Amino acid sequence: MKFFVDTADVSAIKELNDLGMVDGVTTNPSLILKSGRDIVEVTKEICDMVSGPVSAEVVATEAKAMIAEGLKLAKIAPNIAIKVPLTWDGLTACKAFSSEGHMVNVTLCFSAAQAILAAKAGATFVSPFIGRLDDIHMDGVELIDDIRTIYDNYDYKTQILAASIRTVNHIIDCAKIGADVITAPPAVIKSMVNHVLTDKGLEQFLKDWAKTGQKI
Ligand code: G3P
Repeated sequence: MKFFVDTADVSAIKELNDLGMVDGVTTNPSLILKSGRDIVEVTKEICDMVSGPVSAEVVATEAKAMIAEGLKLAKIAPNIAIKVPLTWDGLTACKAFSSEGHMVNVTLCFSAAQAILAAKAGATFVSPFIGRLDDIHMDGVELIDDIRTIYDNYDYKTQILAASIRTVNHIIDCAKIGADVITAPPAVIKSMVNHVLTDKGLEQFLKDWAKTGQKI
C-alpha cells in the first residue's frame, strides 16, 4: 500500500520523506490555505522534494476553465497529478487530461457509482473520502470495499486513493481491503507507531538496564 501525505506543510512532508515513508502528496484548497503559502511556490517545493505524484487541485467549476487551470498546474513539475472534483465537468476535464497523458486525481468521491465514472473517464486515482462519510453516519470503509470489488471485477486500472483518513484504524481497514493508496495527515501516519505495550515494555527494559550498572 502506498502512503501519500495529505498536507501542504513542507517540513512535515520532509520529516516523513527522510524516512522513506512518502510515496506521494495530496493537497487541496483548504490545505493550501492552512499552509499560508502561494500554491505554485509551495507545490513546486513539494514536487522538488518528493518523487511520487503530488496532487494539486483546480478550483474552476466548468470543464473549459478547469482544463486551463489544470494545464497551468501541470507545468509546475512532471510529477503533478491534476486534482478535479467528481462532477460532470470534473470528469470532462479528467478525460481531457488523461488523454494527454497527465495523471489525474478525481476527488470528493462519495459513492461507488461516482467511482465507476472516474475509472471510465481515465482517472489515475479516485479519492473516496472515508472520514466525511463517517461524519454523516455512513460507512466510509464499506465504500472502499465496494469500489475495490467493482474495480477488480472489471480490471479497472484507476487506483483507489483512500482519503479523509482520520484514524489508524482507517489505514488498517484500507490495507486489509487492498486500497492502492491512503492519504493521511502527518499526525495520523506518525501515530501508527504508538502502542501502550511498547511504552510499558521499554520502560521496564530501561529500569532493569539501570540496575545492571552497565554501559554500552
Ligand atoms: O485530501 C482531501 C481529504 O483527505 C480531506 O480530508 O479530513 O478534510 O475530510 P478531511
